[in-house]
Amino acid sequence: MAKKSSHVTWGGRFSAGPAELMLQFSESVSFDRRLAPFDIAGSKAHSAMLAHVGLITKAERDAIHAGLDAILEEIQQGKFEWDTKLEDVHMNIEQALTKRVPAAAKLHTARSRNDQVATDMRLFFKHACGVLQQKIRGAQRALLEVADTNAQMLIPGYTHLQRAQPVYLAHHLFAWMEMLERDHARFGEVATHANWCPLGAGAIAGTTLPIDREFTATVLGFVDAKGRPQVTQNSMDTVADRDLFIEFAAACATFGVHISRIAEDLILWSSAEFKFVDLPDAFCTGSSLMPQKKNPDSCELLRGKSARLQGNLHTLLTLAKGLPLTYNRDLQEDKPPVFDSFDQTAICADVLAGTLGGMRFNPARCAEAVADPLLLATDLADYLVLKGVPFRDAHHAVGAVVRLAEKTNVEINKLPTEEVAKINPAFGSDWVEVFDLGRALAKRAGTGMPGPAQVKKQFARWKKILGEE
Ligand code: ARG
Repeated sequence: MAKKSSHVTWGGRFSAGPAELMLQFSESVSFDRRLAPFDIAGSKAHSAMLAHVGLITKAERDAIHAGLDAILEEIQQGKFEWDTKLEDVHMNIEQALTKRVPAAAKLHTARSRNDQVATDMRLFFKHACGVLQQKIRGAQRALLEVADTNAQMLIPGYTHLQRAQPVYLAHHLFAWMEMLERDHARFGEVATHANWCPLGAGAIAGTTLPIDREFTATVLGFVDAKGRPQVTQNSMDTVADRDLFIEFAAACATFGVHISRIAEDLILWSSAEFKFVDLPDAFCTGSSLMPQKKNPDSCELLRGKSARLQGNLHTLLTLAKGLPLTYNRDLQEDKPPVFDSFDQTAICADVLAGTLGGMRFNPARCAEAVADPLLLATDLADYLVLKGVPFRDAHHAVGAVVRLAEKTNVEINKLPTEEVAKINPAFGSDWVEVFDLGRALAKRAGTGMPGPAQVKKQFARWKKILGEE
């Protein structure tokens, strides 16, 4: 280890720099450099505030701003030289600024990397949530289009993966839509929680200097609906808190659970056993060995990525658990899982949109599956209820009818009325009308049910929601 005094920003009390191995181990610039635009926005706002309260001159502020703008430009053009010896994005940018602008030595006045990184990440979360909301909207629009194209199609709905009751395909697709809508709202909530400015919390205990936290918050857009600045209320919590990281990763993981379930439905539906849907070639792959294969890879990867999103959430929960207040270097490990969750969620939403967009449903196969009269066994029990039979007895009677159909190997709706009436006298000559699919669905007219009037309402609702933005 070199015995020269360290050149890093905190090197004053050190007689020697860190070991090469330690530099390699502790650097974060390889992954936190993507925070540069937020870091620079934070530094510009901070220096504007320092000038506002008279801690630096306006000329110094302007020089700092011009220097930071030039650095951002270089970064965006890929010309900036990142140095892992300078640890992180914050020190890289500050050192580069120091080389150009003497006033840079004043930029870190009344600021610590602890409140700085908290600010960068809050700006990142606000940005990321907006991006993901847009991408979720994209998947929802693709979904609405599939529903629209196949608006009249019926399929069996399943419980326990056994045929349960008939529904419009659109009703099933709109169930996915609801899941995605909650994800959209959830990212909106995370962005709202992110909307509090940490700057001014310093390392842990603020500063003795006369700063104006509200000014900085306003410049950075940490404001409420009325434009009033929102600043965090406890300096220690501000630098220790990682709730947002967990919330963001949880929103991504929940989205992951949703897309995984959607993907699983599609994998099943595209199998030869179901054959309800043909997935787009552009999102499938073949087998290197079996020439006939068309594998639903995009769906399988959507299902697989959800494991990764859950893993990231778990990493963050474990990272924060048991840490003494306030900042600990462990917390540097909070960024890779967050960035990974963001990147994977973004691409998953796009791939979902692409996969949905290219799907072709098979009307014949869906019609065949939904024609199974047993799907209306519950409706038959409801028929008896309307004739005054208590539901438990009705359920039992229909069970006996189903058993009879199975035993005699006759479709339930083809059983002779006399036989059926022997099971329960409330079965009248009109009992087979229950098996008219159109009539059966029309009766499911209450809010949230799969009847045609309701599905139509939901089409109107989604068209309004998705057309608005
Ligand atoms: N790279 C650091 C991180 O991400 C920045 C904060 C460093 N603070 C400190 N006290 N060493 O956590």
